[in-house]
Amino acid sequence: MERRIFLSPPHMSEEGYEQKYVKDAFDTNWITSLGENINKFEESLKEYVGSKNALAVASGTAAIHLAFKTLGVKKDDIVFCSTLTFAATINPAVYENATPVFIDSERETWNMDPKALEKAFEKYPNPKVVILVHLYGTPAKIDEIKQICEKHNVPLVEDAAESLGSTYKGKQTGTFGKYGIYSFNGNKIITTSGGGMLVSDDKAGIEKAKFLSTQAKEPVRHYEHKELGYNYRMSNIIAGLGRGQLEVLDKRIEQKTKIYNAYKEGLKDIEEIEIQEEPENTKPNHWLTVITLKEGSKVTPIQLIEALEAENIESRPVWKPMHEQPIFKKYDFIKVEDKAVSEDLFERGVCLPCDTRMTEEEMNEIIKIIRKLFE
Ligand SMILES: Cc1ncc(COP(=O)(O)O)c(C=O)c1O
Repeated sequence: MERRIFLSPPHMSEEGYEQKYVKDAFDTNWITSLGENINKFEESLKEYVGSKNALAVASGTAAIHLAFKTLGVKKDDIVFCSTLTFAATINPAVYENATPVFIDSERETWNMDPKALEKAFEKYPNPKVVILVHLYGTPAKIDEIKQICEKHNVPLVEDAAESLGSTYKGKQTGTFGKYGIYSFNGNKIITTSGGGMLVSDDKAGIEKAKFLSTQAKEPVRHYEHKELGYNYRMSNIIAGLGRGQLEVLDKRIEQKTKIYNAYKEGLKDIEEIEIQEEPENTKPNHWLTVITLKEGSKVTPIQLIEALEAENIESRPVWKPMHEQPIFKKYDFIKVEDKAVSEDLFERGVCLPCDTRMTEEEMNEIIKIIRKLFE
């Protein structure tokens, strides 16, 4: 390829919405963590997802940290967490010296297995919180997970960093739990270069998170602090990017779905390749299209990744499960199958390039390179 094809690079609107809102911030001199872009970005996002309150912050990780802080996660509390994810899902629990317990995936959605979650509750009846990930934009088995959390009276936080715009039974991911978080990191379906959002129907919870995100300043004239605060608020310039990007989110989902369908169609007759199906009752945003190579496939994931790399195309292995990460190995891991599903997916999975600016020719070229390996 002449130009490098990345996995999921930023894609600003052709209309220039982002630059217009950023320019507004300059023109009005609101170059700070207050202003119209922040207010409007929060308003539009909460309207889009159907949540009552939203707080724009510096990153998805900061949003998770604030959710945990607001729920009172502290030293030695147990936090149940999907094992197949990016480290940012659980890092904030470890910042608080809480104890993660990792939960295996199920095969249909690749997300937290409700059976493994039940098993975790048998061993640890009183976790402080459950954090559920909707991996690569595919919603988890939310009804089952939510029911289990409600039965045990434990709050659910949804890490919807990768699944903005995905729906489950017609409702947006990130709006089922006590808190939901989104990420606008550079590789996400919409990006602000870096940024995040915390949403909740609990107004007091979001107000508390806002207080903590702006250095926990007591409401008096001088600077008075009774609690430990953080500098986690989003800036008005960054929020301008977010406002603009939100206007093209539906278009990006459409383009990502087209990419998914192109891979599905282009690779359907290759026996060794399995492409993730859309689970029943869900409409994923298809942030990334991920395939698995069947056991015994003559091509290994790494060979596929290297063949694409040789043509200047980026692809990646599936997330390495958290319970296998050197830093988290000491924590417990709960599974129900002999061979952990998450380990199996890590060993056999490949994330394919899903750049929404790819041309049809580039898309066909990538499919051709993959097909050639299996001839
Ligand atoms: C599943 C998941 N959770 C959390 C994050 C953290 O988001 P951020 O990079 O905005 O801190 C990311 C992405 O980076 C992610 O993929």
